[in-house]
Amino acid sequence: MEFCKGFLWGVSTAAHQVEGNSQNQWSDWEAAGRIRSGDACGSACDWWNNAERDFDLARNMGLNAMRFSVDWSRIEPHEGEWDLAALRRYREMLDGLVERGICPMICLHHFTHPRWFEQKGAFLSPDAPELFERFTRRVVGALGEHCNRWLTFNEPNVYSAMGYVLGEFPPGRSGDIAASIEVVSAMARSHLRAYRAIHELQPHAEVGWAHHYVALEPVRRGPDRWIASLVNELFNESFLRLMQYGKLPFPLSVLDGNAGDVKGSCDFVGLNVYSRFHVAFDLRHAAQAFARLFVPPHVPQGDSAWERPYGEAYPLALRRAVERAKGLGKPVYILENGVPDAQDRIRPWLIVNAVRELHQLIAEGHDVRGYFHWTLTDNFEWTEGWHLRFGLVALDTVTQERTMRNSGRLYSEIARRNGISQEMIAEYGQLESATGKTS
Ligand code: BGC
Repeated sequence: MEFCKGFLWGVSTAAHQVEGNSQNQWSDWEAAGRIRSGDACGSACDWWNNAERDFDLARNMGLNAMRFSVDWSRIEPHEGEWDLAALRRYREMLDGLVERGICPMICLHHFTHPRWFEQKGAFLSPDAPELFERFTRRVVGALGEHCNRWLTFNEPNVYSAMGYVLGEFPPGRSGDIAASIEVVSAMARSHLRAYRAIHELQPHAEVGWAHHYVALEPVRRGPDRWIASLVNELFNESFLRLMQYGKLPFPLSVLDGNAGDVKGSCDFVGLNVYSRFHVAFDLRHAAQAFARLFVPPHVPQGDSAWERPYGEAYPLALRRAVERAKGLGKPVYILENGVPDAQDRIRPWLIVNAVRELHQLIAEGHDVRGYFHWTLTDNFEWTEGWHLRFGLVALDTVTQERTMRNSGRLYSEIARRNGISQEMIAEYGQLESATGKTS
């Protein structure tokens, strides 16, 4: 199964998760004891000093693309004050990728921002769109020469749900669905300003955002189905609808949904796809709109998060996400797909089946232009700390030693041959034989 020439085989990562010693609202969250595992991010993967070690790995694996993010808090540590040395370091990183023949894609906001911005209320501050545009202009001005693929935001739906409904990300608010819709709408307005600014500075830029899509399965008809479709509207659909139609449907439109002329303001859709959850109506889950999300036993799963399952590993979620994104009429990049799996039990199976599904989707006419695995080297997994390991490459956080997992070798072979072979499918396509091989 070969892919077209120029298909991007990449890996994705994010500033806070790899750079080390950040000073942003997540550093405060960690200092407040909010990392469940109790881990410290510390020097993470030491990228601020030596991202080039992982760039070498990516090049040696034959990868041709990498998505990373810049941390606003390094670039504008105090409001209106710009750290030119930080911009130079990012410029050096970018050059390092280009020199190695790796196409960069830069994300401007991957969950973290400066403390001063958080103190203003982050995206609930009326100034947010203007401040985000100003930051965007700085970054594109400094890095634009070697990058023309940009993401404004990583997962506005995850950022708003985790921070305002589930209370698991800063600012840690629970059950505030109205605020989460306001945040999503404000991020859409900020996206629009950044989208226009980037195109003004770089008329041929490709600008999009990364959308998290989760497959939802109602348990039964009736209330379960109704509640699953509500969660779908709130989580999967809200930002997508703003992009596609410029507004939210009633009754969400009562909460906000004022996103100006955001409709159509993307050149591609980035999709981050991992899991499937089953959904049941449950009166005990009032803060989550009465939805209980769970993973039934006996479905493929990676490692469990600290207090709950991470989700069902479900390669077919990619199909649902790509089919949904078709309505926007833009090319698609899969910008994250992966599984927490320290022992590499099911990652090879996941990769082979994800790539196979994409090949089929492309054959059916979907314009999918790249697959970026999450992630290259194990990195700091937000509230889970070092507890969940998503890397194709294992990291020893004490010595910074890297060890390639079997899935890393497999992915490298896929990238080099620009596709998958019948042998790979025979070896890893079925879960039983794949786990037999890798456990
Ligand atoms: C986020 C990443 C995170 C990954 C694995 C995605 O939703 O963008 O930052 O590490 O999921 O949980």
